[in-house]
Amino acid sequence: MAVVQAKNVSVAFGAVTVIEALNLDIAEGEFIVLLGASGCGKSTLLNCIAGLQEIAEGEIWIGADNVTWAEPKDRGVGMVFQSYALYPRMTVRENLSFGLRMSKMPKAEIEARVKRAVEILQIGALLDRRPSELSGGQRQRVAIGRALVRDVDVFLFDEPLSNLDAKLRTELRVEIKKLHQDLGSTMIYVTHDQIEAMTLADRIAVMNKGVIQQFAAPKDVYMRPANRFVAGFVGSPSMNFLKAKVADGASLEVATPDGRRFPLQGYATAAPWRVGQEIEIGIRPEHWVVGTAPSGAVPVEATITVVEHTGPEALLWARVGDTTISVKVADDSGYEEGQALRVHFLPAQASVFDLATGERL
Ligand SMILES: Nc1ncnc2c1ncn2[C@@H]1O[C@H](COP(=O)(O)OP(=O)(O)OP(=O)(O)O)[C@@H](O)[C@H]1O
Ligand SMILES: [Mg+2]
Repeated sequence: MAVVQAKNVSVAFGAVTVIEALNLDIAEGEFIVLLGASGCGKSTLLNCIAGLQEIAEGEIWIGADNVTWAEPKDRGVGMVFQSYALYPRMTVRENLSFGLRMSKMPKAEIEARVKRAVEILQIGALLDRRPSELSGGQRQRVAIGRALVRDVDVFLFDEPLSNLDAKLRTELRVEIKKLHQDLGSTMIYVTHDQIEAMTLADRIAVMNKGVIQQFAAPKDVYMRPANRFVAGFVGSPSMNFLKAKVADGASLEVATPDGRRFPLQGYATAAPWRVGQEIEIGIRPEHWVVGTAPSGAVPVEATITVVEHTGPEALLWARVGDTTISVKVADDSGYEEGQALRVHFLPAQASVFDLATGERL
């Protein structure tokens, strides 16, 4: 049984519908990431689950309960925001216990819960400080602690690491992952950061304009994007796209604009291919083979325009006809601007999309 479900949920602000007939089934204990560009409806969907946003149509279920009309506090969810939302005049200890004190919980029980949260998050040394005396990372730990003490079944995170610097983000990301492993609670985490999505999620829901484009394990989203949007959105630098036409549907032979024909040997396709169908072949920057290529690899002739050294590797930007591609190479020596570059791709690692519909073929 799914522990959190959105059934046919629609949300409108005035005349503008931002989420339409959305369905999402989350299993117990899963770590789900809602990933998408700014304004695509991630926070709106999370707020619907939390009870902070009224829905126009549909239902929200948590466990065996239809909570569509339940108060946020009665849903068994704990929420952590980007802005921490701590009480500035209270100490860390008071911030942690405030909600419990308001609900008239016995003092001993409050103390036990605060103690446990403090141990899990290792914030014991901060208990008597006020939020203004904490770093961003410490504040966010306290904010997570406030959800922890409530002993909820479902944690909701809305871009909790966005206000932190890169190093701290990485540290706290690992801690959130550990927290999930230790608690085993269901977690729904909103971000527009792909690395967070790839590293944290059991499954990622990629959203665009209020619609879930793909809901799958990170590896599947990365290796087998369901459509052109997901392919272009996930991965940095972005997947490269080469335009082509189907020359022979049965043998998956394609023709490129420069008149070359080759079969996409080993590409796993479900849909039948039509002769003349316009397609795009997607290749990840790290999937190009430079130098000796295995059999079945498709050669592409390019001209290097820019060489970027990133430290452990280099990124080559190159022209192929009127398209620019990016090529990741491990050994960054010996590449120069203007140099001819022959790269290959393996059809089995590529993604093919219908140009008109954007759907994966
Ligand atoms: N109270 C509101 N009134 C009107 N429009 C709203 C309101 N809240 C959100 N919207 C609109 O709904 C859409 C989705 O907003 P939402 O906050 O869910 O996006 P998001 O994916 O969380 O973006 P971000 O990454 O920037 O936080 C946006 O176009 C936004 O302008
Ligand atoms: Mg948001």
